[in-house]
Amino acid sequence: MHNIKCVGLLTSGGDAPAMNAAIRAVTRTAIYNGMEVKGIMRGYKGLISGEIVPFRTQNVSNIIQQGGTILKTARSSEFETVEGRKIAYDNMQKEGIDALVVIGGDGSLTGARVFAAEYDIPIVGLPGTIDNDLFGTDTTIGYDTALNTIMQAVDKIRDTASSHERLFFIEVMGRNAGFLALNGAIATGCEAAIIPEIATEVDQLAELIQNGFRKSKNSSIVLVAESEITGGALGLADRVKKEYPEYDVRVTILGHIQRGGSPTASDRILASRMGEAAINALLEGQRNVMIGIDDEELVYVPFSKAIRKDKPINRDLLNTVKILSI
Ligand code: F6P
Repeated sequence: MHNIKCVGLLTSGGDAPAMNAAIRAVTRTAIYNGMEVKGIMRGYKGLISGEIVPFRTQNVSNIIQQGGTILKTARSSEFETVEGRKIAYDNMQKEGIDALVVIGGDGSLTGARVFAAEYDIPIVGLPGTIDNDLFGTDTTIGYDTALNTIMQAVDKIRDTASSHERLFFIEVMGRNAGFLALNGAIATGCEAAIIPEIATEVDQLAELIQNGFRKSKNSSIVLVAESEITGGALGLADRVKKEYPEYDVRVTILGHIQRGGSPTASDRILASRMGEAAINALLEGQRNVMIGIDDEELVYVPFSKAIRKDKPINRDLLNTVKILSI
């Protein structure tokens, strides 16, 4: 039998589309099961400063379609300290919160893991990040929407790239993970994807692009994952420009546009299912796990596994990019 009476809910780290859909699902499932819900504003920061508000079903009305997070978000350095976490715990006690649902990426779940190791609190995480870099889940909340945003932006750049017969390097987010770049490249028919998981030499890249132009293509687009390893779009463009001055090169950095916007149906459904699953997990007595999705099945992934930095990427897809862009 569970004895959770009040669940605290927060979003933390970089926001992601459909975080609101997850907030709605967690809140309503908890209330449906007779629990009280408290919304913690600004992530762990708000847990420390005591920005905690009661959440009822109407607090989450009309938000499933909204980007961003109504709970706001932040990255809290204070929560990284023992003292900060002690204040956070005391505030939870004061508010009568006896379990937490944390929606966020690897930094947020790392924080949850440390907190749960220090204090006897059941915590369930939801993978909320456009990066899709959490281990143990096929996809994360916000990833599909970001991919669609990238697709729309790259399609537009293709128009101008073709008109001017240019080579574009377009940088996408992912913080050291190539999922957005690789699948974005497939979705937009890019000539290459440069991802941190696999080193690409400038020579190989130039060869690919040259082949593209030779085969009467009048534009080339390379999607680059932001990362020190890839050198980012600016770094790569500089190297290619130096070695191949004949190319008319341009760079676009898509930036935070990738994090906003109304979530896709797929993200709304994922967030709704995962939000419901988070409360069900607490009811079952689960703790310190992230909800993941594996081949359409919801699964529990221990925090220690979820935050591993080496979620495998399907390397065969690089070949797909290459073959389909001949
Ligand atoms: O983790 C999500 C993410 O969007 C990364 O892809 C990116 O590197 C980072 O957040 C940017 O963070 P900020 O909004 O703090 O600049």
